[in-house]
Amino acid sequence: MSETLANLLQETRQFPPPADLASAANVKADAYDEAAEDRLAFWERQAGRLDWAQQWDQVLDWTNPPFAKWFVGGKLNVAYNCLDRHVAAGNGDRVAIHWEGEPGDNRSITYAELLALTSQAANALTDLGVTAGDRVAIYLPMIPEAAVAMLACARIGATHSVVFGGFSADALTNRIQDASAKVVITADGGFRRGKPSALKPTVDEAVAKCPTIEHVLVVRRTGQEVAWDSEKDVWWHEAVETASAEHTAEAFDAEHPLFILYTSGTTAKPKGILHTTGGYLTQAAYTHHAVFDLKPETDVYWCSADIGWVTGHSYIVYGPLANGATQLMYEGTPDTPHKGRFWELVQKHKVTILYTAPTLIRTMMKWGDDIPKQYDLSSLRLLGSVGEPINPEAWIWYRENIGRGGCPIVDTWWQTETGAIMISPLPGVTATKPGSAMRPLPGISADVVDDQAQSVPDGGGGFLVLREPWPSMLRTIWGDDQRFIDTYWSRFDGLYFAGDGAKKDDDGDLWLLGRVDDVMLVSGHNISTTEVESALVSHPSVAEAAVVGATDPTTGQAIVAFTIPRGSVDTEGDAGEALIAELREHVSKTLGPIAKPRQIMLVPELPKTRSGKIMRRLLRDVAENRSLGDVTTLQDSAVMDLISSGMSSGK
Ligand code: WT7
Repeated sequence: MSETLANLLQETRQFPPPADLASAANVKADAYDEAAEDRLAFWERQAGRLDWAQQWDQVLDWTNPPFAKWFVGGKLNVAYNCLDRHVAAGNGDRVAIHWEGEPGDNRSITYAELLALTSQAANALTDLGVTAGDRVAIYLPMIPEAAVAMLACARIGATHSVVFGGFSADALTNRIQDASAKVVITADGGFRRGKPSALKPTVDEAVAKCPTIEHVLVVRRTGQEVAWDSEKDVWWHEAVETASAEHTAEAFDAEHPLFILYTSGTTAKPKGILHTTGGYLTQAAYTHHAVFDLKPETDVYWCSADIGWVTGHSYIVYGPLANGATQLMYEGTPDTPHKGRFWELVQKHKVTILYTAPTLIRTMMKWGDDIPKQYDLSSLRLLGSVGEPINPEAWIWYRENIGRGGCPIVDTWWQTETGAIMISPLPGVTATKPGSAMRPLPGISADVVDDQAQSVPDGGGGFLVLREPWPSMLRTIWGDDQRFIDTYWSRFDGLYFAGDGAKKDDDGDLWLLGRVDDVMLVSGHNISTTEVESALVSHPSVAEAAVVGATDPTTGQAIVAFTIPRGSVDTEGDAGEALIAELREHVSKTLGPIAKPRQIMLVPELPKTRSGKIMRRLLRDVAENRSLGDVTTLQDSAVMDLISSGMSSGK
């Protein structure tokens, strides 16, 4: 990594915050100094944003690393902090969630209503025998009941494990078994791409192999026919909607397990990432306040992630609700019933803050600039990105076409494991650079080190590490402390290694380079896939690109690029060949001849996981003419047929 081509991204544009946003920003530059002076005192002050039933005795216990305890001795209830206290403060009539179903149905739910629903669900779960410490699996579409189910678990101290509604019966089975869940909360189905898509049959298949499951609580969403086991199955509208709306929240220990969320990594058995109560909520709330500059009285916030990912946990449910936000929640896909759906929703709800993923931004780029132009997006004042490195070109497109040139963009780096945002601009402080996540947030100590664990100087590249524990850090891998140590704390003594490569530019700002497993070694040079992808996307004919290293007899590895042309570009016959030649030259000119791809393929789609990450492993299989590995986590497995057939025709 230290050899990463110097100065690959010749990106020098910089965008200072708009003056009005800067002067009214929730968090100003002094937060960095304040946190640097005394990190624990800083986090202690942030914990003060929450209502605690019992004050902690100690901010951090790090006597048994890497097992951290934050706010030791403190007690609080997460749901109380997200709901009751806002109602008690007189904000019960504020809308918590404007929900839009894919078919066009919608609901607006106030904080008082969300509290009543959550209390009913808490009572119903208690009646089903769920008590504090039990695990509950949640397998739901993007409907308000998903948030209610999570909050109800938190309220009674049950640990939830949300499983993304697009996962298979096997994935659900493994996750239920790993956590020995007692109850599953699901729905008959959800709406996706204009059609009802069933969930209950998948749950039935999983539950047949999961003897720990005592009950299945089923929301009626689509009205689809479902098989029914009268011993186990319970309708939500019968059990929850008839339950008492009074429920007194009990306070739990700051280290009480709040949720498990499985992350698949590359190939191995999914890891059950465990998050706990006080530190998690503190950092989720603080970062949401600081990074999105949320003004709860006036903002309408929208995070377009699914609740099945950590982004949905921290930035749909816990962070925004702890801060009393009004938010939009959308059930469906961005192109149903038409490709302007997102912008139509921004216009309708006058969304002020939008948080989405680079994969979505690049998809919108591919669909064309004329689509967002048809909508009034003037309510937007801040844009966020998460999930992957955002290429400078996509960043600029987002700024120009969605932010109309005036909204700060916060590129937020974090992971399921970190629980909350770690590296990001502060929107009222940072002069942003397209493609850089910039600096660790106040209270966070990230660094880039070489393979000897030495901090690299400005201008150098290496491995992204976290030096000090942080409040929302994972506490362990559920049931496997040794794997927790081996996976995250063994590569560099005393440091958390995130798995990502990064570099510091000459100002010390951070550029994320993707997973280190994705770095290529070409004729003895380390080249990051992210940088070659960004070079390709900077060409006006390219919407999206994925790059892999394929074994090569002369160079060790050779660069193979899979490229999606923009909507209007002609790629038939000779035009396609000419474009490929031009793109190879373009990369060579941008990054240097060493980075020139051996081969470029024009493809209609890229293989992505359901969370939108490119599965380079499969592309490597194609590039090396191997049969494909496991495709079960692909969003759309037909994509691989399209790509492989293009490859064998030699295009
Ligand atoms: C991995 C974590 C964090 C919520 C969604 C993903 C990549 C995430 C960025 C960013 C560059 C990013 C990293 C990280 N990643 N955000 N802003 N810039 N890379 O959570 O599924 O746990 O994935 O996503 O590689 O390690 P996750």
